[in-house]
Amino acid sequence: KAPLAILISGRGSNMASLLEAARAADCPYEVVLVASNNPDAPGLAFARDAGIATFAHSHKGLARADFDAIIDAELRKAGARYVALAGYMRILSEGFVAGWAGRMVNIHPSLLPLYKGLDTHGRAIAAGDAEGGCSVHLVTAELDDGEVIAQARVPIRPGDTAETLADRVLIEEHRLYPEALAAYIRDHG
Ligand code: GAR
Repeated sequence: KAPLAILISGRGSNMASLLEAARAADCPYEVVLVASNNPDAPGLAFARDAGIATFAHSHKGLARADFDAIIDAELRKAGARYVALAGYMRILSEGFVAGWAGRMVNIHPSLLPLYKGLDTHGRAIAAGDAEGGCSVHLVTAELDDGEVIAQARVPIRPGDTAETLADRVLIEEHRLYPEALAAYIRDHG
């Protein structure tokens, strides 16, 4: 199985869905590390309880590239071949991204290329869109800009708020991310 590291900043529900999927015998990845820039991320405790190695280091006070080098060293030490960003709310330095080209993926809560960045659901509703969704994409140095490898769509209903839409999209995220990552790793080894 391909060794996978997951980077989180908070709740970690997408991380949990990847951990759950990894338990299946035919899953092509195994999670070797969960790392975070936020030592208080609730997802860290979840991972530890699941018996997964964790690493946390605050980014505060560090230059972006210096912080990324700390994370990169941990990923290499853990033997990761792939990296999955799961609610990792940090812009990444070019050097870090280059070192994982084609082997780092992210899930973003919009139908990319629409709504890169933050407040994706609020912006989709304000625009009067008929649907929202989520995208799994390769990570490049440009924010939320890499090749999309899978998407899921959900209808936007009258009366939806950013919160109700986020809840509906999140259900799809939890299904899409493990599936898209497994397919990608099966194709790329
Ligand atoms: C998820 O909805 C994810 O798509 C989004 O943050 C949430 C994290 O939730 N990611 C981004 O906005 C990335 N720019 P989680 O910690 O429960 O997985």
